[in-house]
Amino acid sequence: MRKTFFKTVRTLLLLICAAVIAQPAAAQTKAQDKEDNVKKVLVVYYSKSGNTREIAKHIQNETNADIFEIETVTPYPEDYNTATKQAKEEINRGYKPPIKNKVSNIDEYDIIFVGSPNWWSTIAPPVSTFLSEHNLSGKTVVPFCTHGGSGISKCASDTAKLAPDSTVLEAAAFSGYGAKNARKEVADWIKKIGVK
Ligand SMILES: Cc1cc2nc3c(=O)[nH]c(=O)nc-3n(C[C@H](O)[C@H](O)[C@H](O)COP(=O)(O)O)c2cc1C
Repeated sequence: MRKTFFKTVRTLLLLICAAVIAQPAAAQTKAQDKEDNVKKVLVVYYSKSGNTREIAKHIQNETNADIFEIETVTPYPEDYNTATKQAKEEINRGYKPPIKNKVSNIDEYDIIFVGSPNWWSTIAPPVSTFLSEHNLSGKTVVPFCTHGGSGISKCASDTAKLAPDSTVLEAAAFSGYGAKNARKEVADWIKKIGVK
């Protein structure tokens, strides 16, 4: 009986010690993160029909990033043909449609993923607006796109043109159809470029 009592007390004491030791360890991890200059990541994307959003969410999950959706003041037409016609005309004249919101704390981020659907072999105009309205100099920019068969086309190079003072890492293109199930593809790419 006495033996059991002492055993229980000893176990309790050990548990308390473990909890006390674990507490500063967690705090230390945060302090260490700061000391080690852990990079803060943001995923910015525009998505008309949801595919690019799916990839953005995979990136967010893989990198523990914050996420920001670019939204136009006036949405593009629902009808595919009308939208593609409007997009072509906007791209040809370099039009940058007004967007609803800005990232007010952009300065806090070190690495910014910038995602767009491939529209006529380049980035969608709202992404051009975003890039023109934010100062990304000194930051690391990672372009990505979803597409219907063309791949990356000029999406990466056109993103880089609008972020002239940024370090641009290797971009990735994902099939729009498979975006939802592309988690592993996304994870492999992120590992390859060394963001994780
Ligand atoms: C206006 C417009 C232009 C497009 N142009 C191309 C293109 O040039 N090449 C291509 O592979 N896909 C093209 N697509 C298909 C989209 O890139 C593809 O469906 C993408 O995954 C859509 O992303 P979202 O769902 O995030 O809007 C185009 C789609 C639209 C609406």
